[in-house]
Amino acid sequence: MIVGIAWIGASFYFNWLENRLDRSQPQEEGIAGNLWAIHGGGFYHLKKFQVAPPSLPVDLHWFKWEAYTTWLSGMALLFVVYYFNSQAFMLDPSKSDLDPFSAIALGLGTITISWLVYHYLCKSVLRSQPLLLAGVLVLLLACLAWQLDSVLSSRAAYIHVGAAIGTIMVANVFFVIIPGQLELVTALKENRQPDASPGKDGLLRSRHNNYLTLPVLFIMISHHFPSTYGNSQAWMVLVGVSLISIAVRHYFNIRHMKKQAIWILPAAMICMVVTMLLTAPKTVQNFSDAHIDDIDVMVVVNQRCTVCHSSSPTQAGFSAAPGNIMLDTVEQLKSHAPRVLISAVTTKTMPLGNLSAMTEEERTLLGLWLEHEINHPE
Ligand code: HEC
Repeated sequence: MIVGIAWIGASFYFNWLENRLDRSQPQEEGIAGNLWAIHGGGFYHLKKFQVAPPSLPVDLHWFKWEAYTTWLSGMALLFVVYYFNSQAFMLDPSKSDLDPFSAIALGLGTITISWLVYHYLCKSVLRSQPLLLAGVLVLLLACLAWQLDSVLSSRAAYIHVGAAIGTIMVANVFFVIIPGQLELVTALKENRQPDASPGKDGLLRSRHNNYLTLPVLFIMISHHFPSTYGNSQAWMVLVGVSLISIAVRHYFNIRHMKKQAIWILPAAMICMVVTMLLTAPKTVQNFSDAHIDDIDVMVVVNQRCTVCHSSSPTQAGFSAAPGNIMLDTVEQLKSHAPRVLISAVTTKTMPLGNLSAMTEEERTLLGLWLEHEINHPE
């Protein structure tokens, strides 16, 4: 997140700069546009050159490590959180009987192949049809989300769609955009006309990166929103929120233009609200009068939860109760009642990947008991 903010912040800033440059004539010789700004208690005056400055400045700042470190740290986290404990975080026995090793191979394979497919599509005949290319890419990403969600746990599916997009964005910087800029600098040093084609490729890739920033940000933090990945059609929610965020980005991209489309922002907001309404988890029916014995509930919790949520978990990979939530006793269960209701009954994000195979009947039983506890605490 930290280096990602630096990357996306810089990228949004330059995008804004490009759109807001004052290009009206007359400009100084060789200057395409300029811009005045005030920030942090000082005035800034920036100039953009039509082609290049007459000579290379001693200190030329590049923006690339923000992107590279985002990828490196993100991949490191993917290994630590997901692959080192893939049994718990990657698998969902109700969807497939993949073993942990195959799940990791699928994850890494997906990331690599996504980049290759994207890269060669950008070089194909579609190169001259940017809109069609964008449509094909969106469709492919939707298929990716759908396919991953049908074999992996939904959280793992989300994070791998994010990792695939993030990898495409960083590889764009590494393999296309930075080499294009190197060509500009080298040409300047050698006093020759730069080759225009790497620059053109770079522009297309930059544009893709620009539109992909918000979906990636959403996926990075999506695990804090169980109502998204906990939905029974989790991949559709992912695609929906991504499309909405792409529309929001588009609104800000064209805001400065004469033919701006003000309606995009309210339309995106309405779509977001509709998505929220459609995906809002249903609460269990209120049968608060139903009497359920504490013992029956504890049998379920002991069977389905305490392999992880215990003072001494038995599940491989867990040395302490996750989130410090222990459910060994009925008092402990009562003290966490609202959170347990949300995670194990409403959104069904617990048990993690339903590793302990909790049944619907058990969820209903637990839900009724919890509702009673919450509404009529003794
Ligand atoms: C395989 C291990 C595992 C099992 C089984 C499991 N959990 Fe969890 N649980 C976790 C992990 C890991 C977290 C940490 C939060 C995260 O990463 O989302 C967690 C988090 C939670 C939270 C906190 C969520 C929040 O942020 O509010 C609750 C509540 C919870 N579990 C309840 C349960 C209940 C109830 C059961 C049984 C029905 C259960 N868990 C079974 C691994 C497990």
